[in-house]
Amino acid sequence: MTMRLIALLCALCWISTPALAVEAPHAQTQVSPGYFYGKVSSNHVAVKSAMVTFYHGNPVHSLTVFADDEGRFLTPHLPWPDGYSARVRRAGWKDVSLDTLSPRTNGSWLNIEMTRITDAREMIQQLPSNYWMNLVLDEMKGHPDHLLEFKTQCTGCHQQGSPLTSRRQFTREQWTTIIHDMGTRSAILTDNLRNALPDYLMKAYDDKNVLARLPKYDGEDGPLPLADAETRKSVIEEWDLGGSRSSHHDMMVYHPDGSIWSVDGPTDTLHKISFATNPDGDRTDYTIPHGDLKPGGVYAKMSVDPKDDYLGAHSLQTAPNGDIWLTLASGNQLAGFNPKTEKWEIVDLKEGINPHTLRFDKKGRIWFTMSATNHVGRFDPATKEQKFVSLPTPDLKTRLILWMTPFLITHADWFNLRENSANANGVSMPVPYGIDINPIDGSVWYSQLYMRHIGRIDPETFEVTSIATPFDTPRRLRFDSQGGLWVPSYSEGSIHLFDTKKMQWVKSWTIPVEPLGSEVPYAVFVDKQTDMVWITGTQSDSMIRFNPKTEQWTHYPYPTRVTYTRELDMDDAGRVWTSHASFPTWHIEDGQPKVVRVDPNGAPDTNTADVFKEAEIAPMASKAVTLKAQPFKK
Ligand code: HEC
Repeated sequence: MTMRLIALLCALCWISTPALAVEAPHAQTQVSPGYFYGKVSSNHVAVKSAMVTFYHGNPVHSLTVFADDEGRFLTPHLPWPDGYSARVRRAGWKDVSLDTLSPRTNGSWLNIEMTRITDAREMIQQLPSNYWMNLVLDEMKGHPDHLLEFKTQCTGCHQQGSPLTSRRQFTREQWTTIIHDMGTRSAILTDNLRNALPDYLMKAYDDKNVLARLPKYDGEDGPLPLADAETRKSVIEEWDLGGSRSSHHDMMVYHPDGSIWSVDGPTDTLHKISFATNPDGDRTDYTIPHGDLKPGGVYAKMSVDPKDDYLGAHSLQTAPNGDIWLTLASGNQLAGFNPKTEKWEIVDLKEGINPHTLRFDKKGRIWFTMSATNHVGRFDPATKEQKFVSLPTPDLKTRLILWMTPFLITHADWFNLRENSANANGVSMPVPYGIDINPIDGSVWYSQLYMRHIGRIDPETFEVTSIATPFDTPRRLRFDSQGGLWVPSYSEGSIHLFDTKKMQWVKSWTIPVEPLGSEVPYAVFVDKQTDMVWITGTQSDSMIRFNPKTEQWTHYPYPTRVTYTRELDMDDAGRVWTSHASFPTWHIEDGQPKVVRVDPNGAPDTNTADVFKEAEIAPMASKAVTLKAQPFKK
């Protein structure tokens, strides 16, 4: 066959496939599913590392692969014969979208032509939030204390530097109002930073500054680093979950059947996505019972919105018997859910406030941090026994405030607590945060976020050993298989290894995300098979992998912007999961939160795949539509 003939045949197949779907749906569903492949270029030059995303179903499930250095991409076999659409994205070029796509058994070729963005103002809008936030950090270079305080206080619920937080040219008055509003939500700044922050923000996000500083990242291959060979092996999938009010603080893999569960705080919902019969996922929602509680739960007297959630569902884990247990932070409860009977067991906690992150020990007992009152709790679902450990405090004043905290919260309206904390001069309390069980000796380890400490609890004697961290803001920590404890420094953008046998800090690494210092790692997860460390790229819309043996880093950018991720889990196939947990949800691109899966070895290799040998000579008419920049909508 001549090249021309091949091209014509391909073009005909291409055009006829969608039509077939309309005329003979039954015939269509019998077509064995296939794959997509193709080439992304711009004016005859390959667009390296373009993210090619295929969407299917409603609620949507998407799958993303990366183009190689020749612009070639190849998907794994996709489950459905039709109903796909696609978007191709690479910062520096306009997004391209394609409709009505069907993957054929022998591959459907897509020729993608992208248009280079020439207007710097348009290009910089495609940069992840960390590039924009870095402008603020630059302003704070002479004030490292301000820099750490800003990162600590202002990146705990949502990204800074995103289109909806920072790119809107707020006036000083607006910034002052916003900073006060954030104070009522618990971002309590020191007077010193509170006074200085509007200036930093206005200088950083000033139109002239932005245009002087951000376009410099652009180059031949666009402004973002290229995906390396490791990243290109990966497939990233996303599943829409919940609605515009949902925030999936934590999600987990339910290992007995591979389903995904997530706790959605703002809607008091436990979500399940099952993949047993549908790769796009079958979703089930379970409302968490709130009993007699009022909106706001134990914080009812601080709650200003009658639509507030009741429970503040936060984290979840699977018990050895297959039950799922949740911490209900504002409900001040633990909730057990039996996935078979779909029955709930709600446990009121007798001491402390704000149950947070939880883990099961080998005896099936739940250990959980209580972040408002500096406790770690232990609950045994078999005996119903509750035990509480008060963690160390730095001084008498802190102890006094902690002692008064339950009273202050119960009677928050007497003290106008919301308003007064917004104006307080940087009250910084120890906040017990991450927790994990040492696989070697069963000891319980926690972090105290604002106190620069981690600690060990003996699970039987409750003896506490407190250990200072040589870094700021230890957040969600995890053990590797050898009893090494990995701790992220949230504000410093680094990870740290503690040897729990020798009881000493071993080594620290700064996460090499560009611009350096702009990452805010919320959580780490260690693969117990390989001891690879996975880190949430909470500010940069990415997942980050660190190989401690080779000290090699791999960066997996997500196709969606403004994700804000807080927890990680891994399925039995070694694929890593997380969820969009931006609070508020409307900061997320499209305002639709999703759960995300990174399969580090999911993509076929474009170099060894035979398909490209033939395909290079088949110029397929592309149906691509270049998208206008989509403004984020509040
Ligand atoms: C406790 C969670 C939390 C923290 C911490 C927090 N924010 Fe927010 N932020 C929110 C929520 C929730 C909203 C949305 C409020 C709304 O819908 O009106 C928001 C919205 C914003 C917006 C958009 C405002 C607008 O009018 O559109 C900006 C800007 C912002 N935050 C900046 C900050 C800064 C600066 C800090 C640190 C001082 C901060 N945030 C800390 C929760 C938080």
